[in-house]
Amino acid sequence: MTVLVFGSINADFILAVDRLPGPGETVVAPTYRFLPGGKGANQAVAAARAGAKVKFFGRIGEDAFGKVLREGLAAEGIDVGGVGSSREPTGAAFIAIDPAGENQILGALGANYAVRAADVPEAALGPGTTVVLEMEVPPGENAIMAARARKAGSRVLFNFAPAMPAPPSLFADVGFLVLNEHEAEALAKQMQMPERDPEPAAWALSRRFGNTVVVTLGADGAIAISPEAAWRIGALDVTVLDTVGAGDAFLGVFAASLDEGRDLPSSLRRASVAGAIACTMSGARDGLPIRALLDARENELAAARPL
Ligand code: RIB
Repeated sequence: MTVLVFGSINADFILAVDRLPGPGETVVAPTYRFLPGGKGANQAVAAARAGAKVKFFGRIGEDAFGKVLREGLAAEGIDVGGVGSSREPTGAAFIAIDPAGENQILGALGANYAVRAADVPEAALGPGTTVVLEMEVPPGENAIMAARARKAGSRVLFNFAPAMPAPPSLFADVGFLVLNEHEAEALAKQMQMPERDPEPAAWALSRRFGNTVVVTLGADGAIAISPEAAWRIGALDVTVLDTVGAGDAFLGVFAASLDEGRDLPSSLRRASVAGAIACTMSGARDGLPIRALLDARENELAAARPL
């Protein structure tokens, strides 16, 4: 079993600000921190810490950030043989966080936009592989990757984040569509569907694409609607420091749990626990839990119940 992440790698620059800026406004922070990030890379680390064997396919720039970020993934035990380079600079995200933990992110995709489905050999796909996709690499390449992975018999998880226009075939080729409530609303609009609230949108999206739709709901946990069953999971009660990377923690642990053969309700519970733990630490990576912590805290959360 392997989790194959086809995704982004970013240098994150974190600024703790007194308040988030409005349009045209300058807000200064006393300093900033450079931390590893990128949705794909964070999800890969979350899956690896949860115990999965992880392979990463992505691109970095020919710069110092790229080198450090690639080494960071390798240090997590991730196979980085699929990390190529690009003449574009390594992707970056400028993240402002206010005292309440609210954030505002400006992303520069850079080398991530050079990621190509052709970089992934056919031999890496198959029934023993769980493929993870997100939206910080070209949507058209995601669509090619999803079609190939589905044909090869892989399980495919797609995190529709950040919400941007994407080919409709992409959604139909993935077994699991994972998104937050804002992304669910954006996708329903993109698909010209009338539903706006998370639960009706999840039902409608699942009917439209014939797959399992998971909508994360922050402190309210998550719902999962599949053609066969529907589930609701709560969330651990934690003190939130910042929510950056919480969605990535959820996705990576969800992928790792399905990959090791857990069923949907059990995978949802571990993913929700991971998402909450991620909120208790600053930055996207520091809060990603290791397997032992997931095992220790899983039972604090009531099992998923049918919707
Ligand atoms: O999901 C969090 C990630 O989104 C950050 O690490 C940042 O790189 C942005 O892309």
